[in-house]
Amino acid sequence: MPTFPERVFSGVQPTGSLHLGNYLGAIKRFVALQETHDCIYCVVDLHAITVQQSPVELRSNIREVTAAFIAAGIDPKKHIVFNQSQVAEHAELAWVFNCVARMGWLNRMTQFKDKAGKNSENVSVGLFAYPTLMAADILVYRATHVPVGEDQKQHLELSRDVAQKFNNDFAESIASNGFGEAFFPLPEPLIQGPATRVMSLRDGSKKMSKSDVSDYSRLNLSDDRDAIAQKIRKAKTDPEPLPSEVAGLAGRLEADNLVGIFAALTGESRADVLKRFGGQNFSAFKSALADAAVAGLEPVGSEMKRLLADPGHLEAVLNDGADRARVLAAKTMGSVKDILGFVR
Ligand code: TYM
Repeated sequence: MPTFPERVFSGVQPTGSLHLGNYLGAIKRFVALQETHDCIYCVVDLHAITVQQSPVELRSNIREVTAAFIAAGIDPKKHIVFNQSQVAEHAELAWVFNCVARMGWLNRMTQFKDKAGKNSENVSVGLFAYPTLMAADILVYRATHVPVGEDQKQHLELSRDVAQKFNNDFAESIASNGFGEAFFPLPEPLIQGPATRVMSLRDGSKKMSKSDVSDYSRLNLSDDRDAIAQKIRKAKTDPEPLPSEVAGLAGRLEADNLVGIFAALTGESRADVLKRFGGQNFSAFKSALADAAVAGLEPVGSEMKRLLADPGHLEAVLNDGADRARVLAAKTMGSVKDILGFVR
């Protein structure tokens, strides 16, 4: 496999209130990667419509994710921030990938099974093909690194399989068009840190999610100081004091989750946190956790509010990002057409 220039791509769906899981598992890490990589961060509105959306809410959610990116510290001038539907090549390459990916691969996707549930005959074709659009998002920029939370791991594996199969199926044409041994890199998932899977505050066996009916299950980026403190006070725990070592968290889902959240917010390891709080009961720990959560989230939330007051500015950021993304995407798509044998 040849080496490709390193480039980071990731996306967030504009489908509802952004929460601590999105922030710690993804957005906070997007910010850090700006120091070392060229980054492209996308508001994936085409993915959002795989389930029905209200147009009014969708527009407002696209602005909200854009505001969250910028408020968290993503620099849209040095890097690229845009919304997916403005760069038509995502959908175009996704079609090509629908013809590369196999039914069997998509049939194995656990997220589709979870989302479709017993209703699989009645969900959209788009929901089934969701992962090939994800592969197109990444590969239309020939991106090499993809920061995501744990729940996206299987989708990333599928992106690698699609890239690999395209490279194999068209190996001769790739070489004869001057691209050497492989056209697409095999994108690497970056699933790192203490908060790759933030769990519900009400149930340590369930992922923190936008779609949970209980708002007490998650900390939203838009929550104010009082809401954050109250949700942490009410978070489920067990009756034992905190252990002094990480091994002692085994089987204690809620304790493990809260310690992981604390570690991710303060930039420590779980072991460091337990050195400090081991042997103490949850009330002391929860009050320190509430302080850390307020310190971590409130500045982002209030900056988001400020940015959301000027939708014109946010739209200008997206338009500028889309103009720059389109240039890169069009180049890849042109090459893909040559490799496939399309006339252009
Ligand atoms: P989405 O919008 O569901 O979530 C955005 C990011 O947040 C992460 N995440 C979490 N991390 C830790 N704990 C949690 N409880 C938690 N919940 C969500 C997700 O892993 C994700 O990184 N399919 C993607 C969006 C997408 C994408 C892409 C990502 C579309 N195209 C290309 C990477 C590359 C999604 O639905 O993310």
